[in-house]
Amino acid sequence: MKHFRSIADVPSLHELLDIAFELKKKPFKYRKLGKRKTVCLIFFNPSLRTRLSSQRAATNLGMETIVFNVDKESWKIELEDKVVMNGAAAEHIKEAAAVIGQYAEIIGVRSFATLQDRQADYAEKVLESFVKYAGRPIISLESATRHPLQSLADLITIEEFKTKARPKVVLSWAPHPHALPQAVPNSFVEWMKVAPVELVVTHPEGYELAPEFIENVKVEYDQNKAFEGADFIYAKNWSSYSEYGKVLSQDSSWMITAEKMRLTNNAKFMHCLPVRRNQIVTDEVLDSPSSIVIPQAANRVAAAQAVYYQILRSM
Ligand code: CP
Repeated sequence: MKHFRSIADVPSLHELLDIAFELKKKPFKYRKLGKRKTVCLIFFNPSLRTRLSSQRAATNLGMETIVFNVDKESWKIELEDKVVMNGAAAEHIKEAAAVIGQYAEIIGVRSFATLQDRQADYAEKVLESFVKYAGRPIISLESATRHPLQSLADLITIEEFKTKARPKVVLSWAPHPHALPQAVPNSFVEWMKVAPVELVVTHPEGYELAPEFIENVKVEYDQNKAFEGADFIYAKNWSSYSEYGKVLSQDSSWMITAEKMRLTNNAKFMHCLPVRRNQIVTDEVLDSPSSIVIPQAANRVAAAQAVYYQILRSM
């Protein structure tokens, strides 16, 4: 694997899952693979799980880690070409990415959507600039439109907890007080489309995901109907794609409750975290045995380690 920005960068999903499960069982089996290699994890936005799991995964493979909170600790970086840099930005991405590439063999980048300019966000300017100028393998730690490490961990979790060959997986929008990007739902849909699952997406009207992600996936606007017979409920908030970045609804009737979970086939509850209690999901559901959010988060290590493994193997 050369880069890891989306499922399109994965040569074989089957092989990636196999190595993830192997590394879960034997996390230190390939601890010499990353010897004398450094991964630099660059954060333009906050993180708990991605930062810590990516560090832990690197350590398991014998790699050194540099964590760089660009938003707080660096010069402000200019992304546009051919600009007169007489504003706040002191450094251009061309030099910044190229220099970081001198210090690390692999680079991870987290850069969220601005939710101001749909075209710019969906062009993935930050991530693609690192690909263009760093000269190193680039791993998305969540970009403007996708969160592939999360999606891989989600798939590992579904494989572990499923009780039938083709479970029904429901991605449900849930209310949130702020505008959130579409990266997690976009990515989840992208990965589930190629996974052995029956995928249904449910959300209020106006929250349709970008056509290139949703394609012909079943969308059910009646949340209760969508939940019927579900084996997994994956809750997530996202802002509108069509009215880009807007919060069109905060309808609390979309919150995941125990009553709604009773409509399912004893479904497991999933969320990428962080999650707002009693906004997205009730305490009762999140604290119940049906919630698998902690093993889901734990699988972030296996996901990151499997991606590092495949990149290190092809270097
Ligand atoms: N799920 C996830 O990416 O968590 P963080 O934002 O804390 O990294």
